[in-house]
This record gives sequence, C-alpha cells and structure tokens, in this order.
Amino acid sequence: MSVKSICCIGAGYVGGPTMSVIALKNPGIKVTVVDLNQARINAWNDPDTDKIPVYEPGLGEVVGEARGRNLFFSTEVDQAIADADMIFISVNTPTKTYGEGKGQAADLKWIELCARQIARVSQTDKIIVEKSTLPVRTASTLKDILSNTGNGVNFQILSNPEFLAEGTAVEDLMAPDRVLIGGDDTPEGKKAIEALVNVYGAWVPRERILTTNIWSSELSKLTANAFLAQRVSSINALSELCEHTEADIDEVSRAIGADSRIGPKFLKASVGFGGSCFQKDILNLVYIARTYGLEDVADYWEQVIIMNDHQKRRFAKKIIKALYNTVNDKKIAFLGWAFKKDTNDTRESAAIYVADHLLFEQAAVAVYDPKVGAQQVYADLDYLNTRSSEENEKLLTVGTDPYEVTKGAHAIAVLTEWDEFKTYDWQRIYDQMLKPAHVFDGRNLLNAAALTEIGFRVHQIGK
Ligand code: UDX
Ligand code: ADP
Repeated sequence: MSVKSICCIGAGYVGGPTMSVIALKNPGIKVTVVDLNQARINAWNDPDTDKIPVYEPGLGEVVGEARGRNLFFSTEVDQAIADADMIFISVNTPTKTYGEGKGQAADLKWIELCARQIARVSQTDKIIVEKSTLPVRTASTLKDILSNTGNGVNFQILSNPEFLAEGTAVEDLMAPDRVLIGGDDTPEGKKAIEALVNVYGAWVPRERILTTNIWSSELSKLTANAFLAQRVSSINALSELCEHTEADIDEVSRAIGADSRIGPKFLKASVGFGGSCFQKDILNLVYIARTYGLEDVADYWEQVIIMNDHQKRRFAKKIIKALYNTVNDKKIAFLGWAFKKDTNDTRESAAIYVADHLLFEQAAVAVYDPKVGAQQVYADLDYLNTRSSEENEKLLTVGTDPYEVTKGAHAIAVLTEWDEFKTYDWQRIYDQMLKPAHVFDGRNLLNAAALTEIGFRVHQIGK
C-alpha cells in the first residue's frame, strides 16, 4: 500500500519537525499537521520562517520549501483525520499531576481523546502511528477504542518512536541512527509496517529501518532515554567525587569514553539533565516496574532521577556557600534558561530548579537566554507553584542584553551551553560586576584559565 495523505495530530517539538522532513522528502504525499492550539498553528503558518514556534537550526528552510506545496498546518482536526490514510499521534504525554500514578505515570488523557476523535470521524481504513513517547502497552488502549467503533473501519496500529534530540532535530531526522517501527505480526500488520517503511525509505537507507513487534518498539524508546540519562547521572555522580579529590571530571570522561565499549558521547558533566523526555520516561519506567511488583528494578532506575535532582540542588548550594552563605538581595545573573543549547524549549530545564532554590533564599536572579523570553521564564516558575506569580516577578528579572543582565551582579551562573557565551567580552563583564566576581559554570563551557586571569573566581563542575 502506498500512502497518499498523512495527518499528524500535535504540532509540537516532535510533530512539527518530523512532519516537515517527511513532507520535504516525500513531495508526493500530502502532509497536514493539526493542533487545537490556534496560536501555534498561526505561528507555523507565519510567512517569516524565523517565527515558527519551534526553534531548530535548519528547520526554517525545510518548512519554507515544503509548506504550501505538500505540507500544511491547520486547526481543522476532523477534516484532516477524515482525509488521511495514515495518522501520526504526536500529542503531549506529560507526567500525571493527579490521582493514581501521580508524579510518575504518563497522563494518557490526550492520547485517549485523540483515539476517540479518530474513531468518531473516520470513514475509511487507516494506519495509526504512535509517535509520542508512551508507556508500554498503550497500543492496546488505542486498539481497544478503535476496534469498537462499530462502523466497519479497520485500523492498524504502529509504534514509531521518535529519537530526535532537540537542537539537532533536523540533522537527526535527515540522517537517523535508526528508525524503529513496531507492528502486528499479521498480514495486515505487515502491510501497515511496509507502508510506513516506504515513507521513511524515501531518504533513510533500508538497513537503518528496524522493524519489531509493537511492545518491543514502545519499550525501546523508554529504555533508550533511560540509558542516556543514566550516563549523565553516572558522570554527574563522579563530578561530585572529583570536587573532593584531585581528579578532573573532563579528564576522567575522556579516559573512560576512549574505551570503545563505552564510547565518548553523553559523558559531559553538567548542572543536571533537563528536557521533556528523560525524567518523564524514567518515571514512567519506574512506574511500570512497580506495577509489576519489580521493586528492585524500579529502585535501580529511580536512582538516575534522584542523582539528577541532587546535582541541581548541589549547584545552587554551591553558589550560596561561595557568597558567604547568604544570597539575600544579591544579584545572580543566569546565562541560559533553555534545557540545552540551540533550542527554545525549557521543559524540565535545570535552570528552573536552580532559580527556584535561589529564590527561596531571596536572591535577586536576573536571566538572559538568547531564545527564551520573559513570558516563558515566568510561566516555568509559576508552574512549579512554589510561590505566587507576584513574588516570582518581584524577585526575578529577565533581560535581553547579557551585559545589562550581568551588570552589578555578585555572580554569574551558566545554565545552558549556548556558543555565544564564549564570544562575550568577559573583561567588560568583569569590570561591571561586584567583587569578588564569581562564575559558576554549570556546563564547563567557558575558558576557566582566561577568566581566572581576568580576576574571576571560577567554579566548574567536577573540578
Ligand atoms: C533526548 C534523546 O537524546 C532523544 O533521542 C529523544 O528522542 C528525546 O530525548 P533531548 O531531550 O532533546 O533528547 O536532548 P539530549 O541531547 O538528549 O539532552 C538531554 C539533557 O541531557 C540536556 O539537558 C543536556 O544538556 C543533558 N546532557 C546531555 C548532559 O548534561 N550531558 C551530556 O553528556 C549529554
Ligand atoms: P512534544 O514535545 O511531544 O511534541 P508538545 O507539547 O510540544 O509535545 O506538542 C504537543 C501538541 O499536541 C500541543 O501543541 C497540543 O496543543 C497538541 N494536542 C494535544 N491534544 C490534541 C488533540 N486532541 N488534537 C490536536 N492537538 C492536540
């Protein structure tokens, strides 16, 4: 079967970039990305591709080429579902904030709503593709809802988890390490798998397209993220040990990463990992393990999160300690708010938690991020619900000029590894700060020797 029309529900960080690349590489397939959020769809349709709602290097060009040709963004969800022969579900699956599994399980409310909407609207057979990260066996929920519509429409469910990392989404989509497709081992299931293989086959070499059963595919996504996060927590655990010994975490990292069995990637010590996936997926894994009574398995993976929380708290405490155990009314400038460079995404960013800790101590935090604005910063803090919005706005300011934001500060904390921070006139920044002037480099990004030479007191992770 060859697919003629694709609909993707959810125009977020996953749906937007993925569909843009699928459309670019398959000019013969009409791809419609739908979302309930009108403002988001308007932004995707902005003639100025610098204004699309997801910042990713290279994405503006891809959207610019495909949009209006075979790529469309719309809020007409029902129409797009009805017209499509393949539907990707890319809606958000946040951690539950209420009831059973609160704080751990994924909230599948949006997925279920989607399934019911598809069931209601569909008149022709469709292939449904799970794109959002989902707990293992979600496909069975989808199947249950879709196979009981009573209107004779056949649905095939596939799992096709997304492995793109933000900041390199376009690169990752253009040349993926692998594409994973899980489906049923029945003649119809195999046909559906083949249809999706053909979509990716337009640009991905066949040997990189792995096909599995649906449960393996769902579980692989959760565990791939858990393994990556585990590496970061492992290196971060060692960074604390390094700070108490003469060892240097970057040297240790290089030495262990040189072992080809370990490999050099994802061994960079930091203030802690963030992003919408790592924490959520591990919590999910922990929840699933506990559901099956596998307490030791659950405890093992939970430790990755515990270590990450510890690392963020430890960073904030280090700042407080160096500033003579009080930061009350002291200006502390944050360089970076996004959870990593080259993205405007701030979900679970370490910066939020470090700021929260410092605000408890009544610090005057001033934030600069090249891609994140004041509205988002305040929304992130308000979401924590640890103090009123008025108080957040009183204690924390957001600026658009790094030299203004750092002026008069006691300390600078580097929370995101944006390249532009390395190019600043650090002498000028030093001259405008209170002395002693501290830099807490949560990313080991800056040249510590050069900053020390200027007069800064430099605090790195794991040194
Ligand atoms: C991750 C997975 O990499 C991707 O495959 C999956 O599809 C979604 O989740 P993402 O969260 O976008 O992608 O970014 P990633 O590059 O994995 O970084 C996650 C966090 O770990 C960031 O906060 C990053 O700064 C941090 N990190 C990463 C480190 O602190 N040290 C490292 O060595 C690597
Ligand atoms: P991700 O990082 O997984 O892409 P986002 O939160 O960035 O997550 O995007 C998910 C998008 O899905 C949001 O823009 C949200 O409005 C949209 N969405 C959620 N439920 C529905 C639905 N039933 N129909 C259409 N769009 C939906």
